[in-house]
Amino acid sequence: MRDTFYTAVDIGTSKVTVLLSRVGTEGDLKIFGIGSVPSEGIQRGRVENIEEARASVSAALAEAQRYIGRESVASSAYVSVSGSHISSVNRSEILDNQATPEDISSKMLSGMLRGSFPKIDQTQQVLHVIPMGYTVDGLTGVRNPMGLAGNLVEMEAHVVVGESIVLQNTIKAVEAKDVSVKSLVMSGMASAESTLTGDEREMGVVLLDIGAGTTDLVIYRQGTPWYSAVLPVGGYALTRDLAAALRSPLHVAEEVKVKWGSVDPESVPSDEEIELPTFQGQHRRSVPRRALAGPLHDRMTEIMKMALTHIRQAGMKDWPIGGLVLTGGGAQMTGLLEMAARIVGEPVRVGYPYGLYGLPDQLRKPTFSAAVGLLLWGIKHHDSADKLGIPTATAAEPKKKRWRFRPSSRRKVETG
Ligand SMILES: Nc1ncnc2c1ncn2[C@@H]1O[C@H](COP(=O)(O)OP(=O)(O)OP(=O)(O)O)[C@@H](O)[C@H]1O
Ligand SMILES: [Mg+2]
Repeated sequence: MRDTFYTAVDIGTSKVTVLLSRVGTEGDLKIFGIGSVPSEGIQRGRVENIEEARASVSAALAEAQRYIGRESVASSAYVSVSGSHISSVNRSEILDNQATPEDISSKMLSGMLRGSFPKIDQTQQVLHVIPMGYTVDGLTGVRNPMGLAGNLVEMEAHVVVGESIVLQNTIKAVEAKDVSVKSLVMSGMASAESTLTGDEREMGVVLLDIGAGTTDLVIYRQGTPWYSAVLPVGGYALTRDLAAALRSPLHVAEEVKVKWGSVDPESVPSDEEIELPTFQGQHRRSVPRRALAGPLHDRMTEIMKMALTHIRQAGMKDWPIGGLVLTGGGAQMTGLLEMAARIVGEPVRVGYPYGLYGLPDQLRKPTFSAAVGLLLWGIKHHDSADKLGIPTATAAEPKKKRWRFRPSSRRKVETG
């Protein structure tokens, strides 16, 4: 078996990350090129300025290629997409197999998946169709009905939809001489791939990827995604609020937020003073560290409440046993775990891209969950034609048939 190359392009509001990788003959993933540059032309997860966005992607790609000292290894890429235009719906599809009884085949399952596409207008496109489970002649909870005999097959699928224009602009920002888009992946779905454990997925878990301009929400239940949405707000809003409170430029507020900020005012000693970095020739100023926490706490509370509103509207009655996993750069906010635990209860943890052999240390940060997740997504869904033969629509090539296999946990993981 030959090595296979995988490229991830994570287009974030604050940075674009390109990862070049190869799956070796042992099934191990080796990342050999990393490029991450501040992004331009992206607002709240959407491409707003195509030339700037393109320049950011090509700068990140060039950096990743420099890493290995050669060009043109990128080929086709798994590309993240985010933004509040993304929504999800769960659909069920029934196959009546009684007329010509035969074992359930991949062709039948493919037909069901295609049948489960929701009716959407031209402004929208299906991004993912993920089978959640099957009922075969009354037997519920069947994960893979291939080869079973059955008269009546019912499938539940999680369908993620996005705005066509935004998806097309994302593709435009990436496609270039030596890169094409293999598949668009909802950013939060990619982060879930790299951060959630198998147990969490089974028990049910809420994942929040708090980025700079967006917060992606993905809920897993019984092993598969059950709800996905994107909030148009992230860590940048905290920086903006802090800048207003301090009457300082954004870059100063960003530095202060990361170094001394907290969203948990009570855990900040009341007598601690910090000296603000100087800007525009101003005199040195000190402020009580606790004073920084007020606006940060308020904005983060608002983000958490928005997420809870979505979760409630999704129809989730009981909080899942797997709890809450926070990832994305915003998950590194001091005091966030304590604050979140007070709102939703334990368990709450920070999700790091985990478990891959040889994952470089510099990628073991919540800010890279989506980028690493894109590679894992690619590996999982790549050579699915021979496996199960389930097609998933991609925004990149909506008319072409594409084959995927159901999520499994075959990737090599470290133990301990
Ligand atoms: N230590 C830290 N404490 C608080 N916030 C942090 C810290 N490190 C990074 N952040 C915040 O994380 C955000 C960037 O996160 P991330 O890199 O996940 O965003 P992105 O993927 O570029 O954006 P998005 O996913 O919203 O499009 C910024 O708002 C930054 O201020
Ligand atoms: Mg992101």
